[in-house]
Amino acid sequence: MAKRIQFSRTGGPEVLELIDDELCEPAPGEVRIANRAVGLNFIDIYFRTGLYPTRLPAGLGTEAAGVVDAVGEGVGNLVPGDRVAYAQGPLGAYGEYHILPADKVIQLPDTIGMEQAAAGMLKGLTVQYLLRQTYPLQGGETILFHAAAGGVGTIACQWARALGVRLIGTVSSPEKAEIASHNGAWAVIDYTRENVVERVRELTDGAMCPVVYDSVGRDTWDTSLDCLAPRGTMVSFGNASGPVEGINLATLNSKGSLFVTRPSLAGYADTRERFEMMCRDLFGVIERGEVAIHIGHRYRLAEAGQAQQALAERRTSGSTILLP
Ligand SMILES: NC(=O)c1ccc[n+]([C@@H]2O[C@H](COP(=O)([O-])OP(=O)(O)OC[C@H]3O[C@@H](n4cnc5c(N)ncnc54)[C@H](OP(=O)(O)O)[C@@H]3O)[C@@H](O)[C@H]2O)c1
Repeated sequence: MAKRIQFSRTGGPEVLELIDDELCEPAPGEVRIANRAVGLNFIDIYFRTGLYPTRLPAGLGTEAAGVVDAVGEGVGNLVPGDRVAYAQGPLGAYGEYHILPADKVIQLPDTIGMEQAAAGMLKGLTVQYLLRQTYPLQGGETILFHAAAGGVGTIACQWARALGVRLIGTVSSPEKAEIASHNGAWAVIDYTRENVVERVRELTDGAMCPVVYDSVGRDTWDTSLDCLAPRGTMVSFGNASGPVEGINLATLNSKGSLFVTRPSLAGYADTRERFEMMCRDLFGVIERGEVAIHIGHRYRLAEAGQAQQALAERRTSGSTILLP
């Protein structure tokens, strides 16, 4: 038997149940991982609340690090005992064990710890595609990145600094401003107190930004468009404040022939080759000391609901992990 989190109806954190389940064997092409640490992500909340629909009952979570415990038929690249991590695949990472396709799993270099990997795989690969692929930064740009003290945000601040990019981060408190600055944000705006568009205008001497990375969604959509330079790119990659709806395409014309994209990790790490390339890039910046994965909070697996509540209520900074 093994413990895992399950939910049978959508709703608040109270729908998450810790259950004892039979330990299944991996099917052909799959591996069973004994999780050592599990990553908490905002997307887990979207599934729990029903914003992203899934068949119920369901497990939760897609990010963890652990040790290969059993391999299915035909798996050639992994053997029991391998130290591994993953950031995609079927829901169910919130558990002592998880079974998933072997091609979604990557071996960890000895230099990267289990907790670090669980805290940084999904968020770090996201930053990899945002900064290196969606809008490939060359160095020298001044960009706007919302929620800069969060899990994704603290990695983005550091990676942008390493690329020679001036990242203007937004945050909701002086404490979070300190965290974003400490992680390498070039400037920080408190979007709960300051006029973001005016501050970006000052900071860029009127030029505005070639790209805005927006994971806040509903509350920041209009502001983000107004912070873009002509022909700038709006990268809308999350809905922390709610989804963006009812967009009038003509707005993109009137605000300066803007580009908009709504990317996902699954859309970028869509082949084994691309997944491995992105992992190499992420492990490289960690190993060179350019990016450190900050674990702000640790919870026991049984406290998954509390952990999600803290994330939803903006009480966390850096990454949060669950310990099975
Ligand atoms: N598309 C993708 O591939 C992809 C992959 C990973 C993550 N994401 C998205 O990236 C975002 C960051 O993920 P994360 O797991 O690292 O979370 P996080 O940034 O650690 O936490 C979310 C942050 O969003 C900010 N926020 C602003 N308005 C909010 C509101 N109304 N309610 C809650 N939070 C609000 C808060 O920071 P302040 O208090 O400073 O405002 C909060 O701390 C999420 O939107 C997530 O869905 C997208």
